[in-house]
Amino acid sequence: MRRAGVRSAGVEMTVRSIAWQDDAVQLLDQTVLPHEVRVLRLGDWRQVVDAIAAMRIRGAPAIGAAGAYAVALAAREALSQPDSFVQSLREAASRIRAARPTAVNLAWAVDRVMALVDEGTNPAVVADRLLQEAHRIAEEDAEANRRLAAIGAERIRRGERILTICNTGTLATVDVGTAIGILRSAHEAGKGIHVFACETRPFLQGSRLTAWELLAHGIPFHLITDGAAGWLMARGFVDRVITGADRVAANGDVANKIGTYTLAVLARHHGIPFWVAAPLSTVDPHTRSGEAIPIEERDPKEVTHFHGTPVAPEGTPALNYAFDVTPAELISAIVTEAGIAEPPYDRSLRGLLEGGGRLRRARSEGSA
Ligand code: MRU
Repeated sequence: MRRAGVRSAGVEMTVRSIAWQDDAVQLLDQTVLPHEVRVLRLGDWRQVVDAIAAMRIRGAPAIGAAGAYAVALAAREALSQPDSFVQSLREAASRIRAARPTAVNLAWAVDRVMALVDEGTNPAVVADRLLQEAHRIAEEDAEANRRLAAIGAERIRRGERILTICNTGTLATVDVGTAIGILRSAHEAGKGIHVFACETRPFLQGSRLTAWELLAHGIPFHLITDGAAGWLMARGFVDRVITGADRVAANGDVANKIGTYTLAVLARHHGIPFWVAAPLSTVDPHTRSGEAIPIEERDPKEVTHFHGTPVAPEGTPALNYAFDVTPAELISAIVTEAGIAEPPYDRSLRGLLEGGGRLRRARSEGSA
């Protein structure tokens, strides 16, 4: 297994954002980064649910892998009561699936491992099967990241100045990341890119996590306030916007971190290409359009307080939508591990999903 192996602010990051180690899920606590590198060992699926809900682990692909491992932990626990094995497992799976609603990777990964459960098989065999499938989900995500990053980077021109939001790197996935994966590949290919990273209020994934990763990889960048994006575009400082996605609907509408829609409108106004980078596990053919995507609302305290310190007068009402939906018409391209989808997305995404499925089957038959 490849390790993240990044160094930032003098700290060597020697573990992956998520891994399975000694019968437990091991993850980096993203709520304390960048000031502290704290590794959590979670041996109970309920702890994984809490970690996902509290955003100790976050980012669509990373919570997908975490959800799959949580089901594997639930299966091991359920072995102690073989008569109710399947029922307890189903109950746990539905709680794991609901830990966060917007990123489809979580539901997708839980459903994928649970599809291997059947009443007639020995529970110990089922439990082992689920763990192996969770490993496959993690490995496939790592490979999808690498392919997607290479495909996207090839199209980046020398010297581009690229604006991004939230954190879509190693921390948000199982390997190099999606949008940040493209930035890394372009940087490593010597394209001389410069990145503008939005700080991403209120959870500050941009300033705490993306800045940490960009520093670690030596990618030139500036951190900017979310409100500065339009002014930078107006001054001609931005050549492209690249964001990640939490769910891509069948028609190409994209749910992603709150503020993404604003960036897409601004990019259109200024004639700047707006890209979304996402593995096919984030494309949800069962959600027809953005209107059907559930948007997570989080505790208003994340807006009125920072790390427990109030940043608004006591009693201030706040809205805390964690995501927004960018309509397909504002998106220039969606970069996946199976290729780049362009409008009309209903057709191009369907083609990539079918091709991607064939690719995966061919690879697993080849390795069998
Ligand atoms: O609330 P978060 O931090 O989990 O939101 C994450 C994002 O919006 C990312 O852009 C998305 O999950 C893609 S991560 C490769």
